[in-house]
Amino acid sequence: MTTNVIILAAGQGSRMKSSLPKVLHPIGGRSMLEHVIGAAEQALGDQNNIHVVIGHGADQVRERLSHKQVNWVEQIEQLGTGHAVMQAAPACTGANVALVVYGDVPMIRSSTLQSLVSACDGKNLALLTVDLANPSGYGRIVRDTQGAIQAIVEDKDASPEQKAITETNTGIMAIPGSRMAEWLGNLNNNNAQGEYYLTDIVAMAVEEGTPVVSARPGSEMEVQGVNNRMQQAQLERQLQLRQAEQLMVDGVTLLDPARIDVRGKLTTGNDVVIDINCVFEGEVELGDGVQIGANCHIKNAVIGAGTIIKSSTIIEDSAVGEGCDIGPVARLRPGTRLESKAKIGNFVETKKAHIGEGSKVNHLSYIGDAEVGEGVNVGAGTITCNYDGANKFKTTIADGAFIGSNSALVAPVSVGKDAVVGAGSTVTSDVPEGHLGVARGRQRNIPSWQKPVKK
Ligand code: UD1
Ligand code: CA
Repeated sequence: MTTNVIILAAGQGSRMKSSLPKVLHPIGGRSMLEHVIGAAEQALGDQNNIHVVIGHGADQVRERLSHKQVNWVEQIEQLGTGHAVMQAAPACTGANVALVVYGDVPMIRSSTLQSLVSACDGKNLALLTVDLANPSGYGRIVRDTQGAIQAIVEDKDASPEQKAITETNTGIMAIPGSRMAEWLGNLNNNNAQGEYYLTDIVAMAVEEGTPVVSARPGSEMEVQGVNNRMQQAQLERQLQLRQAEQLMVDGVTLLDPARIDVRGKLTTGNDVVIDINCVFEGEVELGDGVQIGANCHIKNAVIGAGTIIKSSTIIEDSAVGEGCDIGPVARLRPGTRLESKAKIGNFVETKKAHIGEGSKVNHLSYIGDAEVGEGVNVGAGTITCNYDGANKFKTTIADGAFIGSNSALVAPVSVGKDAVVGAGSTVTSDVPEGHLGVARGRQRNIPSWQKPVKK
């Protein structure tokens, strides 16, 4: 079944009170419009063309989603859903089905879209409908005594009896391609809102004897729209729960599935354990047996099998090997690469640092622009002084070296294999292999020292 997908996304979303067009507001770190495009792509594979009707903030929307293979259609004035579909119609010739979805209904599932397209089958008008405990505000599905759909009546045009109907129009529908142009051509705006209602095509189909059928979404949340930040927050929670459940299905232990946020794509091995309040952003990959403590924030990172990340650690654009031990309260900034069994302890910051197998930076250090070999021990409080105020320089520490506590390594500088730096040193020149480098004032003890006394 060849399908044109028409995504309505021209509305202003004034209740968001935002300079960002509504459909660009995120759910789970991705714009609502991206979710909808994704569901359409997944539902219909190559058998579809996606047209996105934009209006308010059109340039911004197009720019943000310029990587998407879609046909942008501009609706200059928003004269109603029927008018919006009319703008895309000229580009929709030839296909069996036109599937209309909304850019601000982000949780729609591809399986639901597929079942709607099947119900249409190129010859029926298929509506996605849902029973709502509180239907007010929605178009009502009017059926005859045999249960056949007769029309959709908009809330503002409905009689008191019609207002009591709980079956509502989600707005999502699949239109036979062969009938679309004619139906759209017959729309008018003689109604309470002075808009071209797409829903009026239902009565036209009934009149000419085209069957009007319905399909149901898997759950109510799939058809929930976002008009304000409360609704956005509600869907955010629902999406997070959906993702958390998938993680558990994939073999992850979540200490509390209500307290994890995945804003992007999280890939996990077996027996991963994630404690509460962790945030994952972008693309994150966790190997088998990775354990993550509470309150960690991990963005665009690969974490090797068996690594333990203790609480309140922040990791960004980094690659961590297997069996590493990180945190608590560590910060791995972009360009950090840890080889297996490396250890980064509390209050340690790394940036553009490659740290070799089994090396340890355990306490209160800054290691930036550094190449650190295997089996190195970096003492507490060690700082790589990588910046002279204008340029950045590199520090190299070879295998087996030992850096005494509270040392400053003034780059560019290198410490040779198995060399030792005495505690408290300010190292400004290279320490050769196997040497001890000490760079501090020698201790002097003054006997019988008289402590100052208060005047
Ligand atoms: C529409 C339906 C109603 C349904 C409800 C579900 C019509 C006439 N009514 O009503 O039966 O119960 O959705 O939420 O279709 N849009 C445009 N251009 C326009 C007008 C709208 O792109 O000119 C977009 C909006 O950005 C929005 C969507 O279409 O994403 C729906 O428009 P909206 O005005 O919210 O429709 P409702 O009046 O809620
Ligand atoms: Ca409206």
